[in-house]
Amino acid sequence: MPNSHKTHRADYAVVGSGIAGLRAAIELSAAGSVLVLAKSTLSDSATAWAQGGIAVALSDEDEIGLHEQDTIKAGDGLCRPEAVSLLVEEGPKYITQLIEWGTEFDRAGTKLAFTREAAHSRSRILHAHGDSTGREISRALLARAHSIPHLHLRAHAFTTELIVERERVTGLRFIDEADGTLHELRGGAVLLATGGLGQIYRETTNPEVATGDGIAIAYEAGAVLSDMEFVQFHPTALAIQGAPRFLLSEALRGEGAVLRNIGLERFMKRYNEAQELAPRDVVARAIVSEMQRTQSTHVYLDMTKKSAEFLRKRFPRIYETCLSYGLDLASDLAPVCPAAHYVMGGVRTDLAGRTSLLGLYAAGETAATGVHGANRLASNSLLEGLVFGARAGQAMMKDAPAGKRQPGALPGSPAPMPDNSSSTPKEAMKNSGKPSTECVMRKKIQDVMWREVGIMRSGKELADAIKQLEAMELPKSEKPGRSGHELRNLHTLALVIARAARAREESRGSHYRSDFAYRNDEDFSKHSVVQKGKDVQFEP
Ligand code: SIN
Repeated sequence: MPNSHKTHRADYAVVGSGIAGLRAAIELSAAGSVLVLAKSTLSDSATAWAQGGIAVALSDEDEIGLHEQDTIKAGDGLCRPEAVSLLVEEGPKYITQLIEWGTEFDRAGTKLAFTREAAHSRSRILHAHGDSTGREISRALLARAHSIPHLHLRAHAFTTELIVERERVTGLRFIDEADGTLHELRGGAVLLATGGLGQIYRETTNPEVATGDGIAIAYEAGAVLSDMEFVQFHPTALAIQGAPRFLLSEALRGEGAVLRNIGLERFMKRYNEAQELAPRDVVARAIVSEMQRTQSTHVYLDMTKKSAEFLRKRFPRIYETCLSYGLDLASDLAPVCPAAHYVMGGVRTDLAGRTSLLGLYAAGETAATGVHGANRLASNSLLEGLVFGARAGQAMMKDAPAGKRQPGALPGSPAPMPDNSSSTPKEAMKNSGKPSTECVMRKKIQDVMWREVGIMRSGKELADAIKQLEAMELPKSEKPGRSGHELRNLHTLALVIARAARAREESRGSHYRSDFAYRNDEDFSKHSVVQKGKDVQFEP
C-alpha cells in the first residue's frame, strides 16, 4: 500500500447512500461507529430517482401470500423462495418503521393510497408526492442518519478497492474527490450497497452514478457473483433525441396509459392478454418487435384520456419533465423506447447479506439475494433494499461485534463534506472539450452492450460482443481518478454479463435468446455463478 493513504477507522463501513446502505447504517449505529461513503452527493442514488413506488402487502384487499405469489411468478422459476418469504413478510414491519421515521407516503383521506403496476394482482404500490417515492424515502433516511452522532456520512468519496488480508475483507480504499487524496478505511466489516450498473448500456433509465462499482470491486477481490445475465429493461423511457432516457413510470400504465405504434395502433393485444400490464420483459420485447416491424425508433405512450389536472397531481415530476420537452401528456403522445433499468444479479449473498468473502456484505441492487429470480416484479427493489439492508446490518453486528471501540470514535475521520455539488465523470473530458479516451471507450462499451447484449440476444452476437470487449485496451494511468475506475468497473462487468448471457442457452425472465427461444428447466433451472479467473458455472 502506498504511504500516501490517510488511514481511518470505523467499526463498520458502508459504501453507498441509497435505501439499502442507509437502512443498514442506521441499524449498525446501534452497535458502533459507522462511516457511509458515497461517490457523489449523498442523495445522488437510484433510490432517489425511483418514481413508481414501493410494493408492500398492507392494503385491506391484499395478502402477503399474494405478494409472494406475484413475485415468484415474475421471477420465472429462479426466485429463491426463502428470500421472497422474508421480503414480503418483513416488508410491512420495515415500511411501518419508515413511516414512523417521517416518510410521507401519499394517502387517500387518512388511509395509505395504493396503486397498481404490471404483474401485481392487487393495488399494493405505495408512492410519495405522486411520483417522487424514492426521493421522499431518501430524504427521511438521510434525516434520521444525520441525527445519529456516531454515524458519519462522507460524500464525494469514491471507493476504489477492497482490502483483503488472510482471506478476509478488512477495509477499503477510497479517493476523496474534492482534493484527489487517497484514503484507507479499516474496520470490522464492509457493506457494499452501491446500486446497479445501468450505465453499461447506451440506453438506460439509471443515474450517471450507476456504474456497478460495488459489484466490480467485490469481483476483483474474489467474491462470487450470481445471475449477472439477468438485466431488466424498462419498457417506457422517454425517447427524445439528445435527452436522457427519463423514466415514464409503469404506474402511468397502472393508471390507464396505453401503448400505440407509430401507426397509432394499440399493439399490445397482439402480444399478451394482459396487454399494457403484462410483465416488463414481455412489454419491452413487444415494443422492440413493433419498432423493428415499423422501422421506427420509438412507440408512443398515450395518457391523453386523463386530464392535465389529474396528471399534474398524480405524476407531478413526470408531467413537468415532459412539459419541459414540449410534451403535454394530457394532449400529446409521448415517444418511448425500452432502456436498461435494473440488474437482478450481483454479489451473491445469503439471506443476511453475507457474501462469499468473510467480512464482506452486500445489499440492495448490488446483491443477488435470489429475491427477484430472472425478472424483478415492479416496485420490489426499494422494498428489497429496505428489508435486506436492515438484515445485512444485523448480520454484520452479530458476526463482527464492535468490540471496545467507543461509539463516536472515528480516529482520523473527516469533517462531514457538504452535500451540495453534483459530481459527474466530467474529468473524463479534456479541457479542449474533446472527449477523452476514457469517454470514447465508455461509449464503445455502452454501444456494444446495447446492440449485442441487450433485450434480444443470440449466441453469435454474444460471442462477437465478448470478442470486442476482450480486445479493448483500457487506458493506463498511475493514479486513475473516478472516471478511470468507473471505466474499469463497466468493462469488467460488461464482460461478466456477456459471458453469463452466452452460457445461459435458454430464454427466461429478462434474458431472451433468439437462438434458444424457450425456457429449459432441465438444464437451466439454476443460478449462474462467476468468480474472477473461472468459467461461468450453474448451481441450484
Ligand atoms: C417504475 O416506476 O416504473 C419503476 C418501478 C420499478 O422499477 O420498480
